[in-house]
Amino acid sequence: MPTQNLDDFFNVDSSASLIKDWKYFDDDFLPEVLHHREDKLEKIAKHLSTAFTQQTKLNPLILVGTPGTGKTACLKKIHEVVSRNASKMKKPIKVFYLRVGNMNSSTLYRYIANDIRTDGKFTPKGGQGGVYEKQRTIEKFLDLIGESATGGKFHYIIIFDEIDKMLMRERKNLSKSVAVNPLHYFQCIELKHSICSIVCALNDIRCISRLDSSTSSRFKAITITYPKYNADELKDIIQDRIDKALMPDSVSGGAVSFLSSRMADRSGDCRETLSILKQAIIDGQESNATMIEESHIREGEKKFKRITLLTQYNSLPLHYRLILKSVLQKWLDNKKREIESQYVYDYYKTLCTHLRQKEDPLESRTVWEYVNTLQQMGFINVRKRGLGRGLGVSNFLSVTPETLTIMGEIENEEE
Ligand SMILES: Nc1ncnc2c1ncn2[C@@H]1O[C@H](COP(=O)(O)OP(=O)(O)O)[C@@H](O)[C@H]1O
Ligand SMILES: [Mg+2]
Repeated sequence: MPTQNLDDFFNVDSSASLIKDWKYFDDDFLPEVLHHREDKLEKIAKHLSTAFTQQTKLNPLILVGTPGTGKTACLKKIHEVVSRNASKMKKPIKVFYLRVGNMNSSTLYRYIANDIRTDGKFTPKGGQGGVYEKQRTIEKFLDLIGESATGGKFHYIIIFDEIDKMLMRERKNLSKSVAVNPLHYFQCIELKHSICSIVCALNDIRCISRLDSSTSSRFKAITITYPKYNADELKDIIQDRIDKALMPDSVSGGAVSFLSSRMADRSGDCRETLSILKQAIIDGQESNATMIEESHIREGEKKFKRITLLTQYNSLPLHYRLILKSVLQKWLDNKKREIESQYVYDYYKTLCTHLRQKEDPLESRTVWEYVNTLQQMGFINVRKRGLGRGLGVSNFLSVTPETLTIMGEIENEEE
C-alpha cells in the first residue's frame, strides 16, 4: 500500500482562505456600530442620563421586539456607557446587566446580592445547607440595598434581559406570591436610602399585561419598540460584518441581496441572518469556493435550520417529544395528510402507558399548549378546519418538512 503523504495536509495556501477574522461572527461579538438602532440607543441613553442629575426613581423602560432585532446588543452598549460615565463622573450609580432568561428568580436575587457583596457589606447566611429560601433571600437583599452598605445613597439601574422567559416559566410560583416577581420587587419597593430603576427587554409583552394589579398600577413603563429589520437594514448590517470578517470580494452582491430580502420576509431576525451567512461561508470554504454565491446561502439556510431544530429537539422535555412523535406517527399513518388533533391526543395517551416507565398523560389542555409551542419552534403546523356541515371546526396537525428530515437521525440516535 502506498504511504500517504501527510505533508500534503499541511501544504495549505492561506491566500485561498475567504476568512480574515472569524471573531466578527462570534455569537457574543458586539459591533462598534449598531446600524439602524441609533435612535433607540439615544432614547435609552437620554432616559437613563436623568439618573445623573436627579435623585429619583426612573420610570421602568421596556424594550419590546421579536428575537434578533438588536435589543441585547443595545443594552450591552448602554450598560457599558452608563457604567463608564458613572465611574468617570464619580456618580453613585451601579448598573447591572442580567440575562435572566434561563435563571429562576431566587438565583437572580442571589446573583445580585453576591455582586453587591463585593462591597463587603452583604453576607446572607444560608438556610439549610446554604440554600437560601427564596423569600429570605429577598428580605436580605432588600435589607442590603435599603440600608445601602456604605450608608450612602446609590441608584441601582438593573437591566433584565429576556425577563419574559423567566416570568412565563415561573408563572405559577409568581402568581402565588407577587413579592417574588422581580418586576414587582424592583419597581414597587421603597428603599430607605437608595433608589432602584429597571430596564427590561422582552419578546412577549403579555408578561407585562399579566402583572398583578398592585404591580401594574405602579408600573408606568416607557416602551421602546424594536421593529423587525427590513431588507435594506439587514443588507447594511451583514455587509459591514462581511467587510470586517472576510477577504475582499468573498461574497457576491447577489448573495447578500438574496439573503437580506429572504430574511426580511421571514423574520427580520439579524441573529438568524448572520448564522445562515456563517454556515454558508463555512460550507463555501470547505468546498474551496472562491466566492459565496446564492446557492451557498440556500444550502447554508437548510443546514442551519436542520441544526437548530435538532438542537431544540435534544433539549425538549419528555412529553414534548411524546407529543411530537404522536403527531409524526399519526400523520404518517394518514399518508402524510393533516391529522385531527383528537387522534393525536389518543395516540399520545397510549404512548405514555407503553413507556418502559409509565407516565401519566397530561391533560388535553396542557397538551394543546405544548402543541402550540412545538408549532412556534417549527416542528409542526397547526390549521383550523371545518369538520363538515354542522360539525364545527377542529385543529389539524402535520409535521414540517424540516422535522421529517431530522426525524431519521433522531430515531437512529434513540434506538
Ligand atoms: N443594528 C445592528 N448592527 C449590527 N449587528 C446587529 C444589529 N442588531 C443586531 N445585531 C446582531 O444580531 C445578533 C442578534 O442581536 P440581539 O441584540 O442579540 O437581538 P435580540 O436581543 O433583539 O434578540 C447579535 O449578534 C447582534 O450583534
Ligand atoms: Mg436578546
